[in-house]
Amino acid sequence: PASGPTDLVVFGGTGDLAMRKLLPSLHLLDRDGRLDPGTRVVAVSRDGLTAADLRDKAAAAIRGHHEVNDPDVLRRFLDRLAHVTVDVGGDPRGWNDLADALTPGRDRVFHLAVPPMLSGAICRGLRDAGLAVPGSRVVLEKPLGRDLASAREVNAEVAEVFPEADTYRIDHYLGKETVQNLLVLRFANVILEPLWNSRWIDHVQITAAESVGVGGRRGYYDTSGAMRDMVQNHLLQLLCLTAMEPPSSYDRDSVRDEKLKVLQALTPLTGDRVHEDTVRGQYGPGSVGGEEVVGYLDEAGGPATGDTETFVALRAEVANWRWAGVPFYLRTGKRMEQARSEIVVRFREVPHTIFPGADGLPGPGHLVIRLQPDEGIHLTMTAKEPGPGAPRLRPVPLKLSFADTFDTRSPEAYERLLADVLAGDPTLFVRRDEVEAAWRWVDPVIAAWTDHHTSPEIYPAGSAGPAGAHRLIGRNGRTWYEQEQTR
Ligand code: BG6
Repeated sequence: PASGPTDLVVFGGTGDLAMRKLLPSLHLLDRDGRLDPGTRVVAVSRDGLTAADLRDKAAAAIRGHHEVNDPDVLRRFLDRLAHVTVDVGGDPRGWNDLADALTPGRDRVFHLAVPPMLSGAICRGLRDAGLAVPGSRVVLEKPLGRDLASAREVNAEVAEVFPEADTYRIDHYLGKETVQNLLVLRFANVILEPLWNSRWIDHVQITAAESVGVGGRRGYYDTSGAMRDMVQNHLLQLLCLTAMEPPSSYDRDSVRDEKLKVLQALTPLTGDRVHEDTVRGQYGPGSVGGEEVVGYLDEAGGPATGDTETFVALRAEVANWRWAGVPFYLRTGKRMEQARSEIVVRFREVPHTIFPGADGLPGPGHLVIRLQPDEGIHLTMTAKEPGPGAPRLRPVPLKLSFADTFDTRSPEAYERLLADVLAGDPTLFVRRDEVEAAWRWVDPVIAAWTDHHTSPEIYPAGSAGPAGAHRLIGRNGRTWYEQEQTR
């Protein structure tokens, strides 16, 4: 459905996420003619900003995000912005001001770009002020709780005001172009499906490596760590899309039902298995791209508890007919040597080789779905090197680069997701039961780390992560994809 004129109310509307992602993405949607002319953005915060201040701040943020070629479009966008001061849980007058800023009869979206402990109070405030009229949508950002119990609490508080059908939980990885392409690749081609199971796939690797550190976010990060920050949401969502059964249609419940089944089929990682199948790491000082950087403990901002992990590698199993016995290796880290996010599907060896004596037989094929940078898909095949004598075999890539193939701009994750919220399409948002199932799997891992005082293994910033991650995958004679490439 196309979106009509909407009042989009952003709580935390002058904060970091709003300035870095939300307003720039909305500006791009406006520029591309994808915002209804009547749509307004109401930024809510406690800071008593004037509308003029807000517009200046937004203009600077937008220009910092992308080049603005048409100042008229920017002006038109800034004219859509308003600011209202609301002190959630404090002086109730702000809610009346917010009510005055909204137009009855228009669609309403409340985007909560605030820490999760405020969600309940905001939803109640909206309800008590009569603002959450039927059909209003609410958008929640991560982190959605810090364990199953707190996630349930947030979900329950929100559900008192907004029905699940109107609740949009953002996992911005689902808005990435290549992630959606994974679904198209799997379900709009016939050649992959017959191979997409334990008979032909040896294992799957899902990596989200960043070269950045925690920056000024250590206050938040120290209470979170990589498991909560990346694995519980982004990596498990990628795992779901890779492993799920074909949904019967591309719609809100068919897709999410299939993802949920994958989460429910994950073998629990508990007890000794946590010790065997997970690795925690933390970056020490080192150098990234030729620049000396400090270790996690010396990052500015907030006290450090010392044992927060900035890296996780683990081995997961999806216990069902399709995937029994196929390990899914998940890995994420900050301050890694390269920023790279990808899904690597490694096929099995041929059952019988007819090329004996061929020197250094190459490994079997890989399908690589690269999320960033250089979005694209590679399939490695084994080919014969030109020349006489016994065939010399070599892996060669079939490459599809999205940038070279399509000359249209790839929208950012938030553009896509905000457009979907405005249009009322929750397919690419995370349902309550999915969030809770993901925590149910993650909680025992964190509990076992805590119980066993598992300290993170220090890795130098700018490296390939802790040695433990190589031992983890190496136990079954496997290696991480990038090592295999450089062998
Ligand atoms: C966020 C995490 O959800 O995702 C950050 O909180 C992380 O710690 C970011 O840096 C990574 O997103 P992207 O799109 O840069 O891969």
